[in-house]
Amino acid sequence: MFSASRVFSGVLLLTSIGVLVQAAVQVDFQVVQPLTLPAGSKQCTVEILSHTFGNSYGHPEIVQYSPPTNCGAVGSWAGISLNFTVTSNGTQYDRLGTFTLQDVEIWRTSTPEPVSGDGIIWTYVKDVSRYTPLFAEPGNFILELDNVVETGLEGQYATTLHATFYTSSDQYPAATQSNVIIPLGNPANNTGAQESVPPIFSLNVTVPENAVQIYAELQASGNSDEEFWYYNAANEYLNDLPSGTTYGDGPFREVRLLVDGQLAGVAFPYPVLFTGAILPEAWMPITSYGALDLPTYFLDLTPFIPVLTDGSSHTISIDVSSAESNHSINGNWFVSGNLQVVTDPSGKPTTGNITVNNSPLYATTHTVGNINANGLGTITVNATHDLHIESTIVSGSGETTNVVWSQSLQYSNTQYYLSDANVSASPCNPISSASLNCSFVQNVVQTATGTITSTHNGATVLSDTFSYPFAINLTNEFPLKSLDDVVFDHSYERTVIPSPLITGSTIHNRQVAVCKGGGSASPYNNNTFSYTDLAGNTYQRQVNAVNRVVVSDHQSGSLAPTSIVQHAPVIQSTIGPLPARFPGDRRIVHQS
Ligand SMILES: *[C@@H]1O[C@H](CO)[C@@H](O)[C@H](O)[C@H]1NC(C)=O
Ligand SMILES: *[C@@H]1O[C@H](CO)[C@@H](O)[C@H](O)[C@H]1NC(C)=O
Ligand SMILES: *[C@@H]1O[C@H](CO)[C@@H](O)[C@H](O)[C@H]1NC(C)=O
Ligand SMILES: *[C@@H]1O[C@H](CO)[C@@H](O)[C@H](O)[C@H]1NC(C)=O
Ligand SMILES: *[C@@H]1O[C@H](CO)[C@@H](O)[C@H](O)[C@H]1NC(C)=O
Ligand SMILES: *[C@@H]1O[C@H](CO)[C@@H](O)[C@H](O)[C@H]1NC(C)=O
Ligand SMILES: *[C@@H]1O[C@H](CO)[C@@H](O)[C@H](O)[C@H]1NC(C)=O
Ligand SMILES: *[C@@H]1O[C@H](CO)[C@@H](O)[C@H](O)[C@H]1NC(C)=O
Ligand SMILES: *[C@@H]1O[C@H](CO)[C@@H](O)[C@H](O)[C@H]1NC(C)=O
Ligand SMILES: *[C@@H]1O[C@H](CO)[C@@H](O)[C@H](O)[C@H]1NC(C)=O
Ligand SMILES: *[C@@H]1O[C@H](CO)[C@@H](O)[C@H](O)[C@H]1NC(C)=O
Repeated sequence: MFSASRVFSGVLLLTSIGVLVQAAVQVDFQVVQPLTLPAGSKQCTVEILSHTFGNSYGHPEIVQYSPPTNCGAVGSWAGISLNFTVTSNGTQYDRLGTFTLQDVEIWRTSTPEPVSGDGIIWTYVKDVSRYTPLFAEPGNFILELDNVVETGLEGQYATTLHATFYTSSDQYPAATQSNVIIPLGNPANNTGAQESVPPIFSLNVTVPENAVQIYAELQASGNSDEEFWYYNAANEYLNDLPSGTTYGDGPFREVRLLVDGQLAGVAFPYPVLFTGAILPEAWMPITSYGALDLPTYFLDLTPFIPVLTDGSSHTISIDVSSAESNHSINGNWFVSGNLQVVTDPSGKPTTGNITVNNSPLYATTHTVGNINANGLGTITVNATHDLHIESTIVSGSGETTNVVWSQSLQYSNTQYYLSDANVSASPCNPISSASLNCSFVQNVVQTATGTITSTHNGATVLSDTFSYPFAINLTNEFPLKSLDDVVFDHSYERTVIPSPLITGSTIHNRQVAVCKGGGSASPYNNNTFSYTDLAGNTYQRQVNAVNRVVVSDHQSGSLAPTSIVQHAPVIQSTIGPLPARFPGDRRIVHQS
């Protein structure tokens, strides 16, 4: 199977000439840390579902899940992982996929774009131990993966999902888990848990009266006219740009969680680039960071326990708002979430008071722009959102906890609408040029940063320090006939303790992908990743692809595999027409 091995920067590199070469399928992947679950424990793997998604709008795969009974006491597992393996042999768009178990969305993914001919395969393995209470009960398991098969888009996604349960023992203790997980979503018999906003999504929820800690996790992604939300122009300046350049409602988005109409917390989302983003060649075979496992956002809802534990139902709401005066967005942000609830063994109600509540409903925003008569110039949108809430709660057992929850988030986005004197006659005037024979440059430089902390009696239970620098420089012929050059430079920098139930970790990822000449001139994608966690695990990976082939791959750290299988190169001649998506292109069917 392995024809050659060589020592490469201290890491053993093996070259596979097995079945992959014969089939010449492209093996796509997202860079991510390997599982941290105990390899030494007894493991049981079960198939959850196996299904091919052709024309699948309104037809999610829904199966009856039952917990395995041969892998130690049900619910006492040391951990649980999912393995999602997918192939497709025809051209297709990137599609959104959501996994829902017991009404809770536990994973949001998207599909790498297949190329025509020999097709693609990918596997993503995810730690889902934090959802152990959901896996411990029988119930519905839903995979929604809305696909459309039509002329030119023949790809069907053949999917298999396996779950592996790791038995616990003295050596490998059971995963820490909450007592109750409350879904924030609304699955039906034709859809997963995610809800499309606007309008705001609201749900009446009754929290156990003996709740003493509540941690919220949010899922959110922009789709359709909001797929490239960071490229949407502020309404004030939209009409100064050539018509069809981009969408309105500006580039700022915050995901808000409200309790009975009061702001409980917000997330400034990480901009996930799907694999069809602008030039698909940029994301082969390395997808953008987060494309196969969209990041989620963690908030402490414990300060609202004095409100929530009165035995009545309360309204929890999720929406997404912009920096426009009426906070409007173009629609199709898909949101959901869950509440992990820790209860007091006394069974008696928790009481208390919110003592400080400084939580403005919306971010403070600032928009300035300067677009000239030729439709050229810049627009900057800045935002900050600071929130501080304190509570004192008294459990049924009599323990008093002082909760201090705060968020301080910053955002800046500058869009550049420029002319490229190299490609066209200068000055470019995209608005009035009769021939429209000029090149148009559309750059965006965005950052989102923040510090989020929650302490219970002074001890940190949740913290999140993040920075998501993001830039796309795009040069295209005007009107959007073809795209000449695109440079992507984006990073995910995050030190997060999601809750006491999940090990804290630090991830640094930077990905620079460059496509010149509309993807024809040796696109490259360089990805630098590092992971450390509070359990002492470490992992680094530097992987570069040129012209859709991995040319170097260095892994190190305690989680690094001892050998690396080099993916077989894709056969270039089989690359067919690729469906690109780019801002302002209204001809393209919608994501998901
Ligand atoms: C994931 O599942 C596929 C089969 O669907 C299997 O070939 C592959 O080895 C599995 N990968 C891991 C890491 O478990
Ligand atoms: C893709 O796979 C399906 C099912 O195996 C097969 O019927 C079809 O001919 C294949 N298409 C191509 C383009 O190879
Ligand atoms: C799906 O739900 C709708 C609305 O609740 C109901 O009318 C329909 O019969 C259900 N279909 C199936 C197959 O259960
Ligand atoms: C929540 O309950 C209130 C009071 O019963 C009701 O008016 C409201 O419509 C409910 N909201 C949702 C989203 O079900
Ligand atoms: C918000 O304002 C914009 C610009 O004035 C307008 O086009 C849009 O309809 C408004 N949206 C809502 C939900 O009111
Ligand atoms: C909450 O406030 C009420 C009214 O001020 C007071 O009676 C009660 O003792 C307070 N509870 C706690 C836990 O501080
Ligand atoms: C927006 O924020 C950036 C980054 O903090 C800053 O450099 C810039 O001056 C701000 N611009 C405006 C108009 O507030
Ligand atoms: C034109 O392209 C050349 C070569 O890439 C570069 O050196 C020069 O700065 C460009 N000029 C402008 C005005 O962009
Ligand atoms: C566009 O510009 C190119 C390069 O200057 C020129 O060859 C071509 O004739 C122009 N086309 C039109 C329609 O003006
Ligand atoms: C991208 O565009 C921005 C703004 O126009 C510019 O400052 C930056 O140097 C460009 N980066 C690259 C790599 O071209
Ligand atoms: C990207 O990786 C390629 C191949 O390893 C290398 O030649 C190139 O210098 C790298 N570019 C950047 C910007 O890191």
